[in-house]
Amino acid sequence: MAEYRRRRPDSSTFVLDLLAEQLDALAPDGGRSHDVVDLGGGTGGSATALAGRGHRVTVVEPSPDALASLERRTAEAGLTGRITGRQGDAADLLDLLGPASADVVVCHRVLDVVDSAADALAAMAAVLRPGGLLSLLVAQRDAAVLAHALAGHLALARQTYADRSRFDHGSVVRLVEAAGFTVVASHGVGAIAALVAESVLDAQPGARADLAALESEVSQDPAFRALAPHLHVLARVD
Ligand SMILES: C[S@@+](CC[C@H](N)C(=O)[O-])C[C@H]1O[C@@H](n2cnc3c(N)ncnc32)[C@H](O)[C@@H]1O
Repeated sequence: MAEYRRRRPDSSTFVLDLLAEQLDALAPDGGRSHDVVDLGGGTGGSATALAGRGHRVTVVEPSPDALASLERRTAEAGLTGRITGRQGDAADLLDLLGPASADVVVCHRVLDVVDSAADALAAMAAVLRPGGLLSLLVAQRDAAVLAHALAGHLALARQTYADRSRFDHGSVVRLVEAAGFTVVASHGVGAIAALVAESVLDAQPGARADLAALESEVSQDPAFRALAPHLHVLARVD
């Protein structure tokens, strides 16, 4: 069961590959390098991947420890000058960066830790230039309910199901639209991968490639998307 609950490295690769494709296809003036803000970017997993593709990334992050790790990671990756760390949180975003200063805002696994998701999304909309894109990744309630139940934590599963402050596809879309965005695409992340044991992948040649292909194939199917541990939403500011 521990394997069921583990967050696979493939899920972050899936999201970053998806985002890179979406930026190539959809970002304003496609093809050029973009000004990206990574809100709550932590130690820079997304920032280094995006800067490595030529974008300029500003990480806005409240934790000084995470910012110190980001600085080391940036230097080790040879990306100094392409990634800037700024200490602050969602409530500081507009004051720190100013209005209409970014082409893309990345907010991955942060919306459920901010004081107000609605206020944070409004600040993200305000720092984007017209037509700018939001890349949002949130944990989904229903997958957490299943994970707790399958691990035998049934009281926690019930509590999680009853917690309406947790996100699902409908609530995220409503929040994003209320902040002035139009949803361009939404993908479930990890719907299948979270359920397949590592031993199966190790035992069968080609299994990892088949799993990655299957994940991609089911990611926009509403039935699978609803059960994915994470939801990725790409939205454009109106
Ligand atoms: C689960 S981590 C996600 C890190 C990174 N975005 C990722 O996907 O790997 C949550 C991050 O949000 C940051 N954070 C916590 N409260 C925040 C707030 N109010 N505004 C912005 N970031 C916040 C934390 O310091 C942490 O780096």
